[in-house]
Amino acid sequence: MYYLRLSQENIAFSRFEAESVFGKKGTLDGHMLRINSDVLIDHLAYTKKIFIRDKNSRRTIMFKGKEVPVKKAWINEDKFIYRRPDRRPAFHPTSILPKLAKGMVNIGSAGKNIVCDPFCGTGGILIEACLLGKKAVGFDIESFMCYRAITNLRHHKLKNYSVKKADATTLKKRFPCFVCDPPYGKNTKNVDRDQLYHDFLKNALKLTKKMVIIFPSWSDYKKIIRKVAYRGKQWKIKGCFEFYIHRNLSRMVTVLEL
Ligand SMILES: C[S@@+](CC[C@H](N)C(=O)[O-])C[C@H]1O[C@@H](n2cnc3c(N)ncnc32)[C@H](O)[C@@H]1O
Repeated sequence: MYYLRLSQENIAFSRFEAESVFGKKGTLDGHMLRINSDVLIDHLAYTKKIFIRDKNSRRTIMFKGKEVPVKKAWINEDKFIYRRPDRRPAFHPTSILPKLAKGMVNIGSAGKNIVCDPFCGTGGILIEACLLGKKAVGFDIESFMCYRAITNLRHHKLKNYSVKKADATTLKKRFPCFVCDPPYGKNTKNVDRDQLYHDFLKNALKLTKKMVIIFPSWSDYKKIIRKVAYRGKQWKIKGCFEFYIHRNLSRMVTVLEL
């Protein structure tokens, strides 16, 4: 039995990440999550500490109004700060923070060993996927972005990746999951943003069964998701988590499954 102290930054996302990785539901109490498992998970981005129940321990935590004796099993000491986008040789201002990227990869790739980011940019998601021991496959429509992603992956001395130039809306290869952060701008290569989301989501229906994707809060992403269909298949929203950036933008991290 584990007691996970969830991240205050986004408790719902933190819980979703933990439950995806453990593969089972927990019981929430405040910011603690109780999970019945014998397996110790050591790569959760959004869980700071794990406690294990121990009758002999003098240390206690409050759970469901009762004091429970616990010993500390694990502390997340991941040094996200060293992997911040501005510390990479190929910096891009739109790159998401490593902690969020890792949480997204954990959710998308639980139980799978390949992660594909079809909008890889400078490779923030690919780096976290490789560090989690997964094979990372990235595509970007711009060759200079592919080059920048490779520069950053090499900087972190990672090896298990492939990055190629491709258009995400016409990709043909199948993957167990997509984890991605498509552009937010109104116009990308003269393509309307909503049209890009629509075309990508439709193509992805042919290529995968699971996706963790970020939409800007100002877009009508839920309507687009509902509209997209291919041979009777449609995306279902399994979770949607808001990450506030500034008053005009929140990142809506959305988990989609068939
Ligand atoms: C928000 S950035 C991704 C940032 C990335 N997560 C990082 O760590 O740098 C979106 C990327 O999507 C790429 N892109 C835009 N349209 C695309 C398309 N149709 N197919 C593939 N990539 C595309 C852009 O070139 C850009 O690099």
